[in-house]
Order: sequence, then structure tokens, then C-alpha cells
Amino acid sequence: MQTIFSGIQPSGTLTLGNYLGALKHFTKLQDDHDCYFCIVDEHAITVPQDRLKLRNNIRSLAALYLASGIDPDKSTLFIQSEVPAHTQLGWILQSISYMGELERMTQFKDKSKGKEAVSSGLLTYPSLMAADILLYNTDIVPVGDDQKQHLELTRDLAHRFNNRYNDIFTIPEVSIPKVGARIMSLQDPLKKMSKSDSNEKGFISMLDEPNKIEKKIKSAVTDSDGVVKYDKENKAGVSNLLTIHSICSGESIQELEAKYEGKGYGEFKQGTADAVIEVLKPIQDKYNALINSDELDQILDNGAEKASITANRTVVKAKKAIGLGRVKKKK
Ligand code: TYM
Repeated sequence: MQTIFSGIQPSGTLTLGNYLGALKHFTKLQDDHDCYFCIVDEHAITVPQDRLKLRNNIRSLAALYLASGIDPDKSTLFIQSEVPAHTQLGWILQSISYMGELERMTQFKDKSKGKEAVSSGLLTYPSLMAADILLYNTDIVPVGDDQKQHLELTRDLAHRFNNRYNDIFTIPEVSIPKVGARIMSLQDPLKKMSKSDSNEKGFISMLDEPNKIEKKIKSAVTDSDGVVKYDKENKAGVSNLLTIHSICSGESIQELEAKYEGKGYGEFKQGTADAVIEVLKPIQDKYNALINSDELDQILDNGAEKASITANRTVVKAKKAIGLGRVKKKK
């Protein structure tokens, strides 16, 4: 059975982009793959975080994974910082990563742009991400489009380690959805929708109330020609809403173009909002039932325990291959 690994940062409440680009696809993989899904809290601290908010976000993300359909009987759900092997292998991989390749990462360039103080963790973040993946002999990593470059680096690091020391890492493949891999901001459709956007109107949080979702979609930036047509170059805002509407309702883009032909953006936006609410409402109901439950803690305890078994085995192999520690003298 092939192994799947993916992670999400608890750096804010998840957006509709995280759901459509990643989370939604995870649930389909559980029946016929060995799945590991991680709350990557150690990645989140590469930029400053408020302690209490981070704690809440970690728990909230765990509940959202489950509310979206991650089944703890089929998948291993756990918190990265509760499995120390991640930082252990992260350090080893950081030691074989080159400054040049880390500095080339667009996410590093975007996040460090214009900042006075940039943490070194922000630069070495992809080495930790590679460790997350390689610890579990992962075959496939389902992610949105923005993680593609990090996956290429993960593959490079795995090859480098295997060639230089010993052939211990599986080389993972990336899996990016054909539609929805890059959901754009509602306020600036040339920028990806992001949970760390300072303009709240730019993203739909998975926990937004229905009337808030409606308001945000109604104020989404479109254009002035009033035609509901998919044209990413010239009609980025409308195309983004069409993508969202299509994935949420299951209707194809062509069907939606026909449905809204001759109708204004008002009706189209209302239809989009209704489709989004229909997807998010049941997830929100499940989330509310889970967030304060003991069951959630039990699931995360079990997940960390199970993940540690595989992860520790890989760290032992990596340390041995590279020559760390010692071999005890036989008496
Ligand atoms: P993060 O937390 O930024 O995003 C989590 C997942 O959501 C996808 N995503 C999107 N998909 C479509 N449209 C968008 N606007 C959008 N925004 C985000 C991301 O591509 C991702 O799949 N570095 C990772 C977390 C990570 C990880 C890993 C992922 C750490 N270790 C190992 C996979 C494997 C990140 O920051 O994702």
C-alpha cells in the first residue's frame, strides 16, 4: 500500500483555499493508502506567533481535519511537535541543504520581502518540510500548487542523501489537483487566497458564518463587463469564483457559464455563496461538536504514538548512515 503524507500550518483558521486545494483531497485517499496527516506547528513558528492563539489554532486545525472527513481509524493524525523525530531529521537535512537552493524558494522570498528581521527558520523551513515527508517513506504528497517547489527540493535532498550516504529514503511524488490547486484572493485575484492575509475580505475562513461568507463573496472583485465566463487572463476574479462554484457544487465550468448566461454578477455571486455554504456548513457543525471533546485529545495522543514508531525508525537509519552517535563496543 502506498504512503501519503501531508501537512497544514496552524497559522490561522484554514481558508476555503486550503480546503479546496488540499484537505478535500485527503479524505478520498484514506481507503486505499496508508495516510499521515500532520498539524505542522513547528513550521508556524518561523514567523512570530501569539502563544495562546497558536495553541488554539493547533487544536482547531485538528478538529477541522476530522470534521472534513479524516477518519482516525484509517489515517494517522498528529501534531508535528509531539513527534521529536521531525526536528531531528530536519537538522540532518538542513546540514545537507545549500544556502543557494533555500534562498531561491519563492515562499521564502515572499515572506521575507520588506521585513527587517527574518528568522533563519524561515530560510531553512523547506529542510524541515522534507524531513516531515521523508520520515514516513512517503510515496505521494497531496498539496496545492504553492508547495510544488518545496516538493522538488525534498526530492533533491532525498537523492542527495541517498547518493552520499546510504539509500534509505523513498523519493516522493507530488500530487496537485487539476482544478482548485490555487484559489485566489477575493480582493486581489492575482494573489493566492491566504490565511495570513491582513485583509479579511480576501479569504473565506472555513469557520466563517454563512452570512459572512455571503458578504465576502458579494464584495469579491470582478470586472465591469458583466459576463460570467472563464478567462483567467482577462477575467481573473470571475474565473476564480467560477472555480470555487464549480468545485463546491459539482457543476462543470461550462455548465455554470450556460446557467448564468445573460444574468448579472449578483445572481452568480449568490449561487457561488450558496454552493460554498452548502459545503462548509456540515463541516462547521461537526467541528463544533469536536472542538472541546476528550475524543480529540485521544485521537492526537494515538496519532503521535503511531507516527513516532515509523519516524523514529527512519531517524535511527539516517543517523547510522551519516555516522552520528556511536556503536557500542562489544564486551
Ligand atoms: P499551508 O499551511 O500554507 O497550506 C496547507 C495546504 O493548503 C494548500 N493551499 C492552497 N491550495 C489552493 N489554493 C490556495 N489559495 C491555497 N493556500 C494553501 C497548500 O498548498 C497546502 O497543501 N509548507 C506547507 C505545510 C507543510 C507540508 C509539509 C505540506 C509542512 N510540511 C509536508 C506537505 C508535506 C504549508 O505551508 O502549507
